[in-house]
Amino acid sequence: MNAPKEPPTLGSVLEEGWRSWRLALRTPGHPFRTPVVATAGDDGGARVVVLRSMDPEAGEWEFHTDARSPKSLALARSPWMTWVFYDAATGVQWRVRGRARLHAGDDVWRDAWERVPEASRANYGTDAAPGTALVAPLDAVHFRDIGPAHFLVVRCRAESLDWLSLRPDGNLRARWVRVDGGWQGSWTAP
Ligand SMILES: Cc1cc2nc3c(=O)[nH]c(=O)nc-3n(C[C@H](O)[C@H](O)[C@H](O)COP(=O)(O)O)c2cc1C
Repeated sequence: MNAPKEPPTLGSVLEEGWRSWRLALRTPGHPFRTPVVATAGDDGGARVVVLRSMDPEAGEWEFHTDARSPKSLALARSPWMTWVFYDAATGVQWRVRGRARLHAGDDVWRDAWERVPEASRANYGTDAAPGTALVAPLDAVHFRDIGPAHFLVVRCRAESLDWLSLRPDGNLRARWVRVDGGWQGSWTAP
């Protein structure tokens, strides 16, 4: 395989990453809006979520969930988690690894709940916890007025980023680690 004609710089790759996540947050249907998050433990380990916010300054990614879900319990036991973002159109994969902070009952949680549309609030208000066995498919009741009792905000502070770009002229891969409030990048064998 030939070397890429004009390989990007580490700086431009990371900038493009921040741009993509910002764009995803305001673009329904953007592939980076529905990443897979993986957790540690025996809960099944990986599932799709909706990216709810992303702060490039802090290096933090956020999703919302039901506090009773297996992934929430897994994160309470072990905060290490990985996000996988994939854009089939560009052949770019980002893997973001970090530690989750679980927000419930604090200001972060209250602000997030205020922004959950009325129509979506029932998603966090089933009577049965996610994963509970049901006799019939519609047996889980969604309570519209249950409030945020089971609502959980998960914020992940990244410690490392891994970028892979599939290209006809040669795949590229790079990695960044958090150092002294910044990101230190290096090229990696794909
Ligand atoms: C497109 C899509 C978006 C989803 N977004 C979320 C989400 O933001 N939060 C969430 O808890 N589950 C979301 N889910 C459901 C999860 O993938 C998963 O099935 C569920 O949360 C149970 O996961 P667990 O048993 O691993 O805890 C989404 C599923 C799909 C297909």
